[in-house]
Amino acid sequence: MTINSVNLLDEGRALSLISSDGRTTRFHAIWLRDNALDAHTRAVGSGQRLVTLLDYPEDIRIESASTNGQSLAVRFLPEGKEVSFPAAWLAEHCYDREESRPKGWTGEAISRWGSDLAPTIPSVDFTNAKNDRRALGRWLHSVRRYGFALMTGVKPESGALLEVAALFGYVRETNYGRWFEVRSEVNPINLAYTGLGLQAHSDNPYRDPVPTLQLLACLENSAEGGDSMVVDGFKALETLQQENLGHFDLLAGYPARFEYAGSDGIRLRAKRPMIELGPDGELLGLRFNNRSAAPFTDIPFDEMTDYYAAYRHLAEIIERPESEVTFKMAPGELFIVDNTRVLHARKAFSGAGSRWLQGCYADKDGLLSTLAAIEEGLPEAAE
Ligand code: FE2
Repeated sequence: MTINSVNLLDEGRALSLISSDGRTTRFHAIWLRDNALDAHTRAVGSGQRLVTLLDYPEDIRIESASTNGQSLAVRFLPEGKEVSFPAAWLAEHCYDREESRPKGWTGEAISRWGSDLAPTIPSVDFTNAKNDRRALGRWLHSVRRYGFALMTGVKPESGALLEVAALFGYVRETNYGRWFEVRSEVNPINLAYTGLGLQAHSDNPYRDPVPTLQLLACLENSAEGGDSMVVDGFKALETLQQENLGHFDLLAGYPARFEYAGSDGIRLRAKRPMIELGPDGELLGLRFNNRSAAPFTDIPFDEMTDYYAAYRHLAEIIERPESEVTFKMAPGELFIVDNTRVLHARKAFSGAGSRWLQGCYADKDGLLSTLAAIEEGLPEAAE
């Protein structure tokens, strides 16, 4: 972007820029001062801010502003401080938008999917991801976009999934351990450790914060059944919104409760809405888990019938064949899900053969950080 002209507004409390594409964008004096890029405001090494809001006058104004096209020079009153902003930086950080975003919006980095994803499930070979930052970047990019990806070539050995987590971040240890075994047990502490089928769910909604990533690696899978399924919860919520906006609002508007008390000394409880929205309406997450839902006690009596209708409606959408991608894991394969978005399920298994998976949790912010660093260093990595 090139800046064509600049004008002061409101006695210097703001300014407006006209850029080469004809757009007008406004910035406030206090915002510009707070985001000054000079070495007295931001530490050169870390980029962290060296001053606080209380270091600027409350009624800060712009005395003068000028442009050479590529940058904007601003002089503030009463400090007399002069700061320069690159035009590209201003374009990247512009907040002067007219459009309002609909409730449940998601950013451009996210694509919602249904069963149509099945032929093109993103996948990478472990050794390739380990040795090639571009390949790792493409895989992480898929996780950010789809909330789901496969990996092949993982050693079918106990604990090998930790090496996968180490490619992008850190394991989140819980009461289930650094990792946990998913196979039939005689006295299971969790229904996951049986041969029962499991409805599509997000893991551990009874934690706050909820684990944001789950990795599941396959070591053995010769049992009858036990196919894996994943469902894009964000796509299901889009369908819910289209079919009944009131149902969406009910699940977003009241807290649900979740609980796990299956082991001695463990009483995990969380009070959170099934659909979590940010203050600007951004869709942040879905918690959906029939096994761990506790009695709902925060929904008014007069709304409870409708709340259950909404809950059932969402469950039905999640069960639709067009919502799910089904696959059977083979030893050496692993899948990762964004646990705030993508639900996972498995069909029942029994009889001859064995099924042995190992799972662990990790944090999405670490994954996104690694991806952003790769994209910064290798801009073409995620293309
Ligand atoms: Fe699970």
